[in-house]
Amino acid sequence: MSDSLEWLYLQEEDVIKAGALDLKACMQTIEEMFLLIGRGDYILGGPKRNDHGLMLWFNESEEFPNMPTAGPDRRFMSLISYLGGDFDVMGNKWYGSNIANTKKGLPRSIHTFTLNDKETGAPLSMMAGNLISSTRTGAVPGVFSKYLAANDARVLGAVGGGAINQSCVEAIVTAVSSLQKVVLYDINKDKGEEIARSMRDKLNIQVDAVDDIDDCVSQSDILSVATAGKVKPKINEESVKPGQLILLTGAADIMPKMYSQYRIVADLWSMHEKWLEDGLQRPEGVESIKSWAMSGDILEMVHNGEVDKESIDNFGDIINGHVTGRKDDDEVIIGIMGGLPTADVAWGYRVYQYALDQEIGIKLPLWDSSYLV
Ligand SMILES: NC(=O)c1ccc[n+]([C@@H]2O[C@H](COP(=O)([O-])OP(=O)(O)OC[C@H]3O[C@@H](n4cnc5c(N)ncnc54)[C@H](O)[C@@H]3O)[C@@H](O)[C@H]2O)c1
Repeated sequence: MSDSLEWLYLQEEDVIKAGALDLKACMQTIEEMFLLIGRGDYILGGPKRNDHGLMLWFNESEEFPNMPTAGPDRRFMSLISYLGGDFDVMGNKWYGSNIANTKKGLPRSIHTFTLNDKETGAPLSMMAGNLISSTRTGAVPGVFSKYLAANDARVLGAVGGGAINQSCVEAIVTAVSSLQKVVLYDINKDKGEEIARSMRDKLNIQVDAVDDIDDCVSQSDILSVATAGKVKPKINEESVKPGQLILLTGAADIMPKMYSQYRIVADLWSMHEKWLEDGLQRPEGVESIKSWAMSGDILEMVHNGEVDKESIDNFGDIINGHVTGRKDDDEVIIGIMGGLPTADVAWGYRVYQYALDQEIGIKLPLWDSSYLV
């Protein structure tokens, strides 16, 4: 007869009590994760260990009336991974995303996150995943900025004022102490102004909402892009400043020549290549990834031989000192951050450890004794 098995359940309020919104601590955790990624101490899904996650692809129309169909930012995805080092644990983020959620008063995407023991597979914890995900997503451009922003960066531009970019802005402001101002452009002007007000209060820094994207881009030493919806924001070359760090957490409409002209640093390029591999198997080919993947246009250029993939650097190699970081103050760098499943594992595990220590959450039984043993 087996022993009883229990796991820790953390609802969103518990996740907050356990420190999930602590961006400073999250950035330290994400830095540790990138060191491990650069050393190869991780496993992502698939035979090549490079799969961002398994996605349910939706078609424009279906034979069955209830089957979900394609829509802006509509997908279901499971992100599985192992992360080594002190983490040494398995995890799975499972989420659904649909822009129509916002009309129902729900976040665009809804996540749950599970941690499992690497030996037995037993669940250690299941938690509300939205804040694990949004905090770890913001922390990544924060860490990129710490290593790759030009000296004395003064202005941070934010394109998109949703939950994700708010987290990115907070992290970047925390990471780069020379910043004096944030300039926010959101396609929804009223929302942009409201978010600018709340960020000003929260971050204690000047935050101006502007109604012209070029005004936002041209002022910025660091630019953080994370929008959702039908229209990708257009970044014009004329507005790009020398030395600018452009951080793509979401997709942007960037002139193709900029990708061959400027340096590209990816969170993990092999993961982006897997998106291309998957996209090419769809009837629409590479078009099927271009609307949502921040690397969609670069992947198309790599596929067409217009960008040499060997010229694309991995951030893990930079922070491990195997590849040079910023080369000079005029270098324009485009950071592409597809979102590593290991970032959810890293941050979810730290939050879980804190919750265990502080006795936050509810322990739930999986069984009193396993029926199958
Ligand atoms: N790379 C990662 O790790 C990662 C993780 C999570 C989410 N994301 C991406 O981040 C993006 C934002 O997610 P979110 O949850 O904040 O979405 P959201 O729907 O909450 O907010 C998006 C915001 O962008 C604005 N917007 C839409 N189109 C715009 C445009 N063309 N120009 C300026 N603003 C525009 C909207 O008005 C809205 O305020 C999504 O594309 C999502 O896929 C990336």
